[in-house]
Amino acid sequence: MPVPSHPTRRALLFGTAGTAVLLAGGPRTLLGTGPAAPRPAVPVAETAVLLDAAPVTVDLGSRTVRTWGYGDRVPGPEIRVTAGGTVSAQLRNNLPQETTVHWHGVRVDSAMDGAPGLSQVAVAPGGVFDYRFTAPDPGTYFYHSHVGTQLDRGAYGALVVEDPAEPLGYDAEWTVVLDDWLDGTGTGTDPDAALVHIRDRPDAVQMHSTLLGGIAGHIAYPHYLVNGRTPQAPEEFTDAPGRRIRLRLINAAADTAFRVALGGHELTVTHTDGYSVLPVTVDTLLIGMGERYDVLVTLGDGVFPLVAAAEGKDSRAFAVVRTSAGEAPPASVDVPELNGRRPTLTDLVADPSVDLGDAPARGVDLVLGRGPNGTGWTLGSTATFDTPPLRVPVAVGERVRLSFTNTTRMWHPIHLHGHTFQVQVPTGRGPRKDTVVVRPRESVTVDVLAENPGEWMLHCHNLYHSELGMMATLGYGDTPPAGPGMSGMSGPG
Ligand code: C2O
Ligand code: CU
Repeated sequence: MPVPSHPTRRALLFGTAGTAVLLAGGPRTLLGTGPAAPRPAVPVAETAVLLDAAPVTVDLGSRTVRTWGYGDRVPGPEIRVTAGGTVSAQLRNNLPQETTVHWHGVRVDSAMDGAPGLSQVAVAPGGVFDYRFTAPDPGTYFYHSHVGTQLDRGAYGALVVEDPAEPLGYDAEWTVVLDDWLDGTGTGTDPDAALVHIRDRPDAVQMHSTLLGGIAGHIAYPHYLVNGRTPQAPEEFTDAPGRRIRLRLINAAADTAFRVALGGHELTVTHTDGYSVLPVTVDTLLIGMGERYDVLVTLGDGVFPLVAAAEGKDSRAFAVVRTSAGEAPPASVDVPELNGRRPTLTDLVADPSVDLGDAPARGVDLVLGRGPNGTGWTLGSTATFDTPPLRVPVAVGERVRLSFTNTTRMWHPIHLHGHTFQVQVPTGRGPRKDTVVVRPRESVTVDVLAENPGEWMLHCHNLYHSELGMMATLGYGDTPPAGPGMSGMSGPG
């Protein structure tokens, strides 16, 4: 049977029923209507999608670029499934090098995680791989290639897992995918060349950010994108005044943190990396690579700038939110909210429904560092390369407290595959996350409940850092199983 090129909802009937449940929810408060209603007994959805990884020409609005992506647009197709439902994604590799797809943040079975050399053998050019997994937890996720610098080309897309008993009240939702763009821009460089440059001249570019506590990034990109569009030809979101919108914010960039604000509006944060938090109302959010935030906004009357400042890089991504006729603001418009209230991890507290509790945990200390002579980046037991990469052993059911200490002059968004940890903050337990920002000379501690057996990557989500060695693993049992055809991960190259 041919696989459709766009996500389809086999259980269309369920989609309709789900909407009806939401509308029949009575007077809406932010978090619904009091006691949680029992989950309706509904058919489980299955979503089928074809991911054709291939060289493509994509239209960024103000220009076209030649790149690698899934289909002819960037981001690739948005995949939506109901929690408990199944995603069937056929990856066809039409790239000139091997590839995989990683389902970032999703508690998949290890064999479907797309970690090359660890959970699967990368798919050779011309090859096909059928990913099929249950998406157990509702939330905002994304998928991306996990080979080389393909993520910093166009090989990524949004993945939304809907809650069949959605407790939030809202009228519509928009997915907002942020990216930094270099590939195919005719600037004489591309992500692979950038990788070599960053490896050989690590301190060549110094862009500073006070918010990030030091060096902001390595690359001043020619473009910053919202949903694959440049500020010169922005995405326009349209709805009506007074309506409540859920924004699903995803940072799919390789080397850029974004500070996001919607001019004239407050943002109520409801989810961190897919998991609910006690609602906090703010003006702006700082989002590292791999992080996602869900926020609610109540739309004003007018035409508003949705801005994602490329933190420390003096540039921005930009989109327009429109609820009335009139001229759109220019991309350079001043947005005071960017300097307004911004939550720290301490301000974000997991909702009791997803709180991991405070059972005792075994501590593991990890160091974020530089390799010998300042080459490469490390994530290990000490501030030098572990060869092979450090493996943190865990047992099923165990609780492990990972402490990351950053000895470098740069911030790092640290991501664990297959699990959503809980950040520990000075006041106690913070948000559930799978990617957490660790600033220079800072330590961040997270609790992991080991309940998803397998071998999992633990790495910096700055693509250039992970490619240059900032990678460890977390695995179940004292020794990794010898997987068929699995060479194991190699050290930094
Ligand atoms: Cu989105 Cu291993 O990462
Ligand atoms: Cu890093």
